[in-house]
Amino acid sequence: MKSTELSGVYKQKGKLFTQNPANCKGLKIYNERLVSYKGREFRSWNPYRSKLAAAILNGLTSINFSPKEKILYLGAATGTTVSHLSDITTDGVVYAVENSPLAVKKLLEICKKRGNIVPILTDANHPERYLSLVPQVDFIYQDISQRNQADIFIDNSKQFLKQKGKGILMIKAKSIDVALSPKKIYDAVTDKIKKQEINVTNLIDLSPFEKDHAAVVIAP
Ligand SMILES: C[S@@+](CC[C@H](N)C(=O)[O-])C[C@H]1O[C@@H](n2cnc3c(N)ncnc32)[C@H](O)[C@@H]1O
Repeated sequence: MKSTELSGVYKQKGKLFTQNPANCKGLKIYNERLVSYKGREFRSWNPYRSKLAAAILNGLTSINFSPKEKILYLGAATGTTVSHLSDITTDGVVYAVENSPLAVKKLLEICKKRGNIVPILTDANHPERYLSLVPQVDFIYQDISQRNQADIFIDNSKQFLKQKGKGILMIKAKSIDVALSPKKIYDAVTDKIKKQEINVTNLIDLSPFEKDHAAVVIAP
């Protein structure tokens, strides 16, 4: 098991891993593989199940993670990617916003053992609703397949992202417009974000793991 250039992210035989917390030994979140190495346990991070893993395998290097990171996660679903960020930000917090009660019910199961996830059942279109729960954060991660996904990211960044903060917006082209080419959509979203003086560093295509998806990377 080798460290990568991203702190808290490991690699073995071309596959990504994060370290399972000591109190979660033997526990899987989404039937991922567990690997023991030098007394520590690692969880495989599947790029077909997590777009963040896909972005890392496709060359995400312009942002790094710290173990004290405060993360706002929009579109947490049942916690697949949230759980890996929870492994990485051992002394930080993941504020996990999700609007499906069923998904949040599953997320709550994960939170029983992981004290650094704050699940928030609400609509990410309304940052004012969770203003009292979420502080200024270092990193905003969004994976919401809605037509207005860029606006959701911009509104939340204005409200919660620290100066010199970073972010990743996962774009699903087909949720925005089925008629336009993904490239045109990626360009339009990137331009829209740049107009808000948010610093987009690069765009990472997520194929072959996710078709017609890209990660917009924001860094100071
Ligand atoms: C593609 S899934 C996210 C998968 C997750 N990020 C992962 O990697 O494990 C998108 C999620 O966004 C949620 N969602 C959609 N619209 C939302 C909104 N307006 N506010 C909060 N969550 C929303 C959906 O219920 C769904 O669970």
